[in-house]
Amino acid sequence: ELQTLTVSKMRCVHFRGFEIDTWYKSPYPQEYSSRYVLHLCEYCLQYFNSSFKLQRHELKCQYLSHPPGNEIYRDGKLSMFEIDGRKNVIYCQNLCLFAKLFLNSKTLYYDVEPFMFYVLCETVVNYKGELIYHFVGYFSKEKLNGTGYNLSCILTLPIYQRKGYGNFLIDFSYLLSKREFRLGTPEKPLSDLGLLSYRNYWRISVAKALKSILSLDPLPSSVSIDDIANLTGMIHNDVIVGLEQLHGLVFDPITGRYGITINVEIVEEVLAKWERKNYMKVQPDKLVWKPVI
Ligand code: ACO
Ligand code: ZN
Repeated sequence: ELQTLTVSKMRCVHFRGFEIDTWYKSPYPQEYSSRYVLHLCEYCLQYFNSSFKLQRHELKCQYLSHPPGNEIYRDGKLSMFEIDGRKNVIYCQNLCLFAKLFLNSKTLYYDVEPFMFYVLCETVVNYKGELIYHFVGYFSKEKLNGTGYNLSCILTLPIYQRKGYGNFLIDFSYLLSKREFRLGTPEKPLSDLGLLSYRNYWRISVAKALKSILSLDPLPSSVSIDDIANLTGMIHNDVIVGLEQLHGLVFDPITGRYGITINVEIVEEVLAKWERKNYMKVQPDKLVWKPVI
């Protein structure tokens, strides 16, 4: 019964001018996964098994200039689109199938309705003088979250990784939480890269919060985990992970409890190192958005 074996041969995706090596298997229909290369439309994320079919599609793609949904943020070259999984089912399914190529854990592909998708694009002006939106990465978020998760899945396209876009997407997810007057945390389990990125983000975000507390006049007599959570939009556990990395927790043998100490030198060092990277930062005043109720 050898014929029933379905083997994915896919090794890379042809995306814009790039051939991107894939990391994991994704449940594309067999006629596509039995080829070494998958050809993807960079705008609608529709997939094709030949470069010729892709070219033919690109002449009539409905999302040629930008993704579906609403542009809720623009700052310089960067734009964010909010896409409702219920209104743009096919686009969101294509996005999830694509993302799975770089995600180890089981993710959803077809049941996209309960989610919102936030797609980060970099704009360029093409040779005709038109504005083109290039897909950089995205995160998804449950619409009704009784769970307190503010992010379900995150991806930066490998050709854009290690440039600060993951940090940007994570920061954006916390900005949405702050606008909802909620504290948030990413859905577990995190991948190795997800954990590295979040630990890095929590450290920087707590350092920023501590610095803003230090600049208050008059200086508050004490700082609590709650204060930092409210400034960052992070749940208490994640604040603690950030504080630990800043040597900000001390055990008090008299009370038998942990206290917060602000190690100014470490905070300044972490922030200076972060500033030196010169990554794009989320500008909260550029977000035009109201929470979904
Ligand atoms: N090795 C070591 N550290 C890393 C690495 C790596 N490969 N990638 C990220 N980090 C750490 C670094 O501290 C980095 O900061 P630095 O580059 O300034 O030193 C920090 O994380 C953030 O880096 P960014 O450039 O902001 O993040 P990036 O754009 O590369 O995106 C992401 C991070 C989204 C996790 C990306 O690696 C990715 O898409 N991975 C595949 C999909 C995935 O695993 N997603 C997370 C699943 S968990 C979930 O979705 C809830
Ligand atoms: Zn298309």
